[in-house]
Amino acid sequence: MKPHRRRTPRVLALVAAAGLIAPTLTACSSGSSIQVYSARHYDLEQAFETYQEETGIEVEFLFGSDAELRERILAEGENTVADVYITVDAGNLAAAAEEGIFKSVDSATLDEAVPPELRDPEDRWFALAKRLRTIIYAPDRVSPSELSTYEALAEPKWKGRLCLRTATASYTQSLVAAMIAERGEADTERIVRGWVDNGRIFSNDVEIIKNVASGNCDVAIVNHYYLARELRDDPNLPVELFWADQNAGGVHVNISGGGVVANANNPEGGQKLLEWLATDGQSELVGDNLEYPTNPKVAPDPLLTAWGDYQEQQIDAKAYADLNADAVALLGRLGYE
Ligand SMILES: [Fe+2]
Repeated sequence: MKPHRRRTPRVLALVAAAGLIAPTLTACSSGSSIQVYSARHYDLEQAFETYQEETGIEVEFLFGSDAELRERILAEGENTVADVYITVDAGNLAAAAEEGIFKSVDSATLDEAVPPELRDPEDRWFALAKRLRTIIYAPDRVSPSELSTYEALAEPKWKGRLCLRTATASYTQSLVAAMIAERGEADTERIVRGWVDNGRIFSNDVEIIKNVASGNCDVAIVNHYYLARELRDDPNLPVELFWADQNAGGVHVNISGGGVVANANNPEGGQKLLEWLATDGQSELVGDNLEYPTNPKVAPDPLLTAWGDYQEQQIDAKAYADLNADAVALLGRLGYE
């Protein structure tokens, strides 16, 4: 028989049920430890380790997809071991709040660290990092003077030249939900139809960037940090960033963030961890992944400041959540897969 790590049955159930990765969660919460369920994968292990070193408080975490972790917290109810739930996408955060997953947190530290537009009006969730979904292009085949808006990528001149992310990605769904909120469904449908006519669809943003670099597409829409990461690895990569919609409502903003779970065993500990992630832990949280900090007192990475200032869209997390089903239906109608 092969040697194996001993786990309690409960942990085995946790691991087996949802294909979760990096499960370090134990069944019983010791008094001072903090248990985190996270659908955001970037850099959290390192941040939690630092927090543990600085405070002596143990952070245990469970990674999984957004939907499965939310379902799990709801199913576990009062028996949940989760103190904090962290996820990506404003729509997911707003949906989690509507489902009653979070409790309101009264924290002067969080109120000061996180600008009002980047937290729930009822203080149930707080953005911890910001990402911008914008246009990228191949500078040897496209001049930035040809670029302007997401809408303009629907024009016939981009036929066969546009790369897009899959419809199943929350990134795509929230971009489309934001467009529906801003300009209505008919106009959004007209634009997305143009994208579908022009574009090819890829399952991740890194693949999209590589296809722009290699000449398979000339323009694309991606989250800024994927390009920043690729440029960090290869500063000569022939792909440039363009801030979309600068004279048309601003570039599309999304966030990752979290809140204290309503049935937390250790809500005070959960709140302290969130406060740290929004202040002293900001650089560590956003650093390697190259997201923008949400705390205005924390400077973004120089790779990002090199792209200059930008006008951003007013984020409306509730609209992203409420219009998600409409966005998914619209994408489905147009054969955007
Ligand atoms: Fe991502």
